Amino acid sequence: MPERHEKVVGKKINRVDAREKVSGRAKFAADVSFDRQVNCALVIAKKAHGVLKSIDASSAKKIPGVEGVFTWRDVPGENQLGDVIKDMPCLVKEGERVRFYGDVVAVVAASSKKIAEEAADLVNVEIEELKPVLTIEEAIKDEIVIHGKSNVGVSRRIRKGNASKYFENSEHIFEGDFYAHYQEQAYMETQGVIVVPDIDYGFTVYGTMQCPYYVQGAVSNVLGIPMSRVRVIQTETGGAFGGKEDIPSYVASYAAIVANNLRRPAKLIYSREIDIQTTSKRHPIKSHYKVALEGKKIKAMTIEAYMDMGAYATLTPIVIFRTLVHAAGAYEIENVDVDVYAVYTNKVPPGAFRGFGSPQVLFAVESMLDDIAVQMGFDPMEFREINTLRPGSRTSTDHLLVNSVGAPETLSRVKKASKWKELVKETEEFNKSSEEVKRGVGLSHIFYGVSLGAGGQALDKSGAHVLIDRDGSVEVRIGGTEMGQGAKTVISIIAAEELGQSMDKIVVHQPDTAFVPDSGPTVASRTTIYSGNAVKSACASLRERLASVFCELTGCRLSSVRFEDGCVYGENENKLSFDEVVEHAYKKNVKLFETGWYETPKLKFDMDNGIGEAYVTYSYASQVVQVEVDLATGYSKVIKAFTAHDVGRSVNPEGVVGQIQGGFAQGMGYAIFEDMKQKDGKIISDNFNTYIIPTVHELPKELVIDVVEDPFPEGPYGAKGIGEPSLMPVPGAVANAISMAIGKRVRRIPVTPEYVLQLLENGSSLQE
Ligand code: MOS
Repeated sequence: MPERHEKVVGKKINRVDAREKVSGRAKFAADVSFDRQVNCALVIAKKAHGVLKSIDASSAKKIPGVEGVFTWRDVPGENQLGDVIKDMPCLVKEGERVRFYGDVVAVVAASSKKIAEEAADLVNVEIEELKPVLTIEEAIKDEIVIHGKSNVGVSRRIRKGNASKYFENSEHIFEGDFYAHYQEQAYMETQGVIVVPDIDYGFTVYGTMQCPYYVQGAVSNVLGIPMSRVRVIQTETGGAFGGKEDIPSYVASYAAIVANNLRRPAKLIYSREIDIQTTSKRHPIKSHYKVALEGKKIKAMTIEAYMDMGAYATLTPIVIFRTLVHAAGAYEIENVDVDVYAVYTNKVPPGAFRGFGSPQVLFAVESMLDDIAVQMGFDPMEFREINTLRPGSRTSTDHLLVNSVGAPETLSRVKKASKWKELVKETEEFNKSSEEVKRGVGLSHIFYGVSLGAGGQALDKSGAHVLIDRDGSVEVRIGGTEMGQGAKTVISIIAAEELGQSMDKIVVHQPDTAFVPDSGPTVASRTTIYSGNAVKSACASLRERLASVFCELTGCRLSSVRFEDGCVYGENENKLSFDEVVEHAYKKNVKLFETGWYETPKLKFDMDNGIGEAYVTYSYASQVVQVEVDLATGYSKVIKAFTAHDVGRSVNPEGVVGQIQGGFAQGMGYAIFEDMKQKDGKIISDNFNTYIIPTVHELPKELVIDVVEDPFPEGPYGAKGIGEPSLMPVPGAVANAISMAIGKRVRRIPVTPEYVLQLLENGSSLQE
């Protein structure tokens, strides 16, 4: 641990946006309205695969209140979407292919949302149907091809050491198949934007989003106007979890087409059903694992994984990199082969979701290790202790880990907190005397590459703008977004720490592309490091300038000046309030705004072989859960959980705990409850009456959270990231615990009651 002098960092701080959010004063996308606005609704294909023959809007246009129905003909710029591969039409053209149920064909504008939605239903879309590709297996056959020459759209590999040779000489090889199903982000606020023709002869976009700069680029592209004519301001955002990474670019594009044609503000707020049918989810991934040991040491691992990327590539070419790097888990293994393939199907395109392609394979590798431990009679804890990454280890991409490797410490913390051995014994005892209800204990151990890493270095930067007003209040602007995760609080803490100004005089504004340059996306658990470092450096410059003013006034030496508790202190008991120093600085014409910028050192990575520095740093976690399974109904319930996370440094401890609690609940939903059902490419469970997410009632009574602080030297005060790692250990731990309870290996998540009953009857099953 470094010596601590911090006054605000690491302290219990109230969330800065709490009051507005609980009082209802916060303005989310649907709360923003403009004079003369129209309300929009989407017309979707409602067929999984086919050729669009005609669009007939005549009856829709007759409805009173309808202001227009817009199709590809009304797109002035490029009618294409997609951040990496532009394979997705903005609005499908007649004569071209419809590739999934939610493909957008037209946008209706009307005086109210209700009229727009009713009119959208009346737009007659004629589609000549083609046979759809609905499974990974069918896709690989390439009998029906969705784009180009093959349904295998993207692939990535790792070749470290010589795994195949090692397997040739191994007597005992462990193998396993695993499947992780879709997961819906289930943010409380659906997608929504309002696009306004503005006084600057361009458009201002207000909306719920993670990545304002992506939206700016997409709207400029679809309207065919320079980016300088598109300004994007993020409204308060009611949850995102990756689901508002690329999707708002699409939502804003549809609304922009209307705003541009009518020259009126166009508002588009998705219904829950349209949101679930058309927007990204977590990718389903099927994986096959092969492992060889020497004693209790893992010597070789081979992984083949297939991701269902739906009808369009969207973010999959980036998501797949994370799947690749995390597939072999948080372990040091000499010989590793990983092959990951992403295949097109005629289904909704999955994309970013908390963990970005890693939770699926972390569940698989943790299940595989647990299965080996059971077969060999190893203690699952000891098995991980032996194989885990530690300082000096090399990851599966051969990345040498030098500092901030708290992995072993997270294991020892959960071992202690859960009283591991006793808990296992007590659970076995319980099961001896219980027939109908069985208990199980499960462990998992994960790592997570923080920020965009070698796959996205061009995006890994962030800016900040800090302005001190004449009354001493501090206005902070960052390119990162608050989506509920606590970014504004952590950024306020950093500004307060650096300037010594009191928290209540610091405001972090909603992101606005007019003020801060492209700061990359707000994803990958990178905001504390990137926006945090940018704000830290801007504040440090301002502090130096104010320190000089203070010294001029008091005659103190620069080296004696301290900024804290809303005051500036110097030698000989000299003291002025921060606000007084600012007032003097104003009178002296001192520049009181500053910009900050942060980018990480470049990473070296060989993409062909998957070898090198994959990410700037990694967060680590370990988790033990105890479950109870009702053998009659198949219903599983988590009754206890112990989780430990290496976050580098907890800048906002309350926020870290909040993230871990939320991540646990969402991970548990993924592990047990959330079962996305489809029929012929249509999502059947398109609202929360059929897509079941856990509530606070399903959370374990005992959720013990522990934080390991092994500082990351590049991070502000040593911080890494916690947003996503909070979810990642849960599915593996829960699946392993259920496996112990029922005495059958769980190979699929979610572990629904139906799946548990199938396992009890058939012993093994891997259905989608
Ligand atoms: Mo995220 S899943 O990196 O928005």
